[in-house]
Amino acid sequence: MKKGRWLRSAVLGGLLGLGIYSCHASDGKDSMVDVDKELQYCDTQIKRTLYEVKQNEYQLPRRIEKEEAAWYLTDVYDWTSGFWPGILWYNYENTREETIKEHAVCYTEWLEALLNPEHKGDHDLGFQLFCSFGNAYRLTGEERFKKTLLAGADKLAGFYNPKVGTILSWEHMVEVMGWPHNTIMDNMMNLEILFWAARNGGKKEYYDMAVSHARKTMENQFRPDATNYHVAVYDTVTGAFLKGVTNQGYADESFWARGQAWGIYGYTMVYRETQDKEFLRFAEKITEVYLERLPEDLVPFWDFDDPAIPDAPRDASSAAIVASALLELSQLEDNPEKAVRYKEYAIRMLGSLSSEKYQSGDSKPSFLVHSTGNYPGGYEIDASINYADHYYIEALIRYKKIEQGIRLSENLYPDRENKNSYTGMLSF
Ligand code: GLY
Repeated sequence: MKKGRWLRSAVLGGLLGLGIYSCHASDGKDSMVDVDKELQYCDTQIKRTLYEVKQNEYQLPRRIEKEEAAWYLTDVYDWTSGFWPGILWYNYENTREETIKEHAVCYTEWLEALLNPEHKGDHDLGFQLFCSFGNAYRLTGEERFKKTLLAGADKLAGFYNPKVGTILSWEHMVEVMGWPHNTIMDNMMNLEILFWAARNGGKKEYYDMAVSHARKTMENQFRPDATNYHVAVYDTVTGAFLKGVTNQGYADESFWARGQAWGIYGYTMVYRETQDKEFLRFAEKITEVYLERLPEDLVPFWDFDDPAIPDAPRDASSAAIVASALLELSQLEDNPEKAVRYKEYAIRMLGSLSSEKYQSGDSKPSFLVHSTGNYPGGYEIDASINYADHYYIEALIRYKKIEQGIRLSENLYPDRENKNSYTGMLSF
């Protein structure tokens, strides 16, 4: 790296870090994110939800359909059940309000039911438990939360198939779809609890399982152009990759936005955990193809290949997931220009999501509108969804920490012994 390039990048990085650099949205308006204002907005919406959703019957907010104004509730076994407690923990992290913590603890404790032996579960245990108990443990250090996380990692590891080298994501689809061993891209997110467990008293082999899963997925589930298949189907006897298909995208060969978003977040996390540069280079590659296809406001259409574009629905959840991922990637980067580029993109994405177009405002108690969960299934189309809100508030918190000069990788697990072991080069 030439000294001049370093200097230019460092100066630009510094300006970004100080919040001086302003980004411009497609409408030409300044889209710099006022992070405290947006976090205050999230707090207001959370309190509306807490008022409107009575804390009983083990029901949690999942979505608000386009024409609706109230949360559709779901039970603790739903794959999204960890996101609402996760939102509460992030809000507690920012506000330190005891009443928010009490709600966060209550909703988190409900998810203990996922460990009942009569509940089989699937790969989503990672989402469910790491967003809830993971944040609970991170913020309180209480042993009981750690115990549940370790038990959750044990349960998730039970779905690992050593012949294939990945986790079986959807056991029910073995029969329903005839997909003998299936691994979905979303499953990349659920490796984080395995990495965490391997470092925090769980079995050391969970690290190898997570790395194997990431490697196999990298080899088989991405097309030559770096876009991915939602589902990879493997032979359980030989372990061979059989085919790539979709469940929630437009078509088997189409470019489903959220699948790529999970991949970008997942490989960034895998690089953080392994420090293996192959994963960093891969995270960059799959990010670039996603960025190239974005519309001007950086919120993707739900599937980049839907022929109805520009009239197809957007997916704000993908934008929130990617914004959060790119903030971390920008700090892990060993290339200063890329670090600046990813941070700038993340801020612009947050700027768009924080605009009137994408925030629910007074109309609904969610943070965001315009997410698309399951277009082929005919629901959550152009809707508010809890995971869009979860990654939006996570991204805001990450952005605030970066502005305060905090390295995200050191702040993830305050309990970790080796917290200085991450050697990403940039720290603006
Ligand atoms: N199944 C996870 C998702 O809809 O992205």
